Amino acid sequence: MSSNPKDREKEIAALESLKYIKDGMKVGLGTGSTAAHMVKGLGRLVANGLQVVGVPSSDATETLAIEVGIPLTTLDKAKRLDVTIDGADEFDGNFQLIKGGGGALLREKILAYNTDINIIIADAAKQVERLGKFKLPVETIQFATTSISKILEEMSLSPILRMKADQPYTTDEGNFILDIDIFDVDDLTTLNTKLISIPGVVETGLFLDTTSIVIVGQGETTKTLK
Ligand code: 5RP
Repeated sequence: MSSNPKDREKEIAALESLKYIKDGMKVGLGTGSTAAHMVKGLGRLVANGLQVVGVPSSDATETLAIEVGIPLTTLDKAKRLDVTIDGADEFDGNFQLIKGGGGALLREKILAYNTDINIIIADAAKQVERLGKFKLPVETIQFATTSISKILEEMSLSPILRMKADQPYTTDEGNFILDIDIFDVDDLTTLNTKLISIPGVVETGLFLDTTSIVIVGQGETTKTLK
């Protein structure tokens, strides 16, 4: 049990989400510290006899899932997933999300698109009135990143190349990430369409119409929003 209050909220939201996983299901496994609690909890259920297969959304989640004994498959083999459980950096009252703080937005969005029920698990601080205090990650192919950054600058979105240890951060797919400021943008659907249409933009961390259920940890309880 986590002793850090925020992490404890993540943990109890994650444990609550496990109630949606039933025998025989194909489960998308999210990425990040909240999703890691869910993966560990699912590992315990599997050890007690629950039969599921997981599809991880990142190399880090794959490593953890193997460590805790969750049988894995690929999206190709699974074709469609029953449920995916993932974290978020922000969510609003319409279940619109910013994701990708952990850099796994591309595979996370692919899993969400191929899943019947997408469940988001989060600590209470992730719920916002308006998306955008958290910078929106935009995944770009390396070759185009400088030119895309210039375009995003012209759109007044203040792109910042994500760095790690003095090098551009590289995603599991070998791409870069530009984090942009969308707080003043009202129409996120139009923004997303514009971003995706720029050659070399692979994906954005805006998840607009994918989520069915949000489970929020609040102190020692959870609330489930549907
Ligand atoms: C990774 C994500 C994560 O779900 C998001 O960053 C939340 O992370 P955490 O659960 O550690 O707060 O989108 O790409």
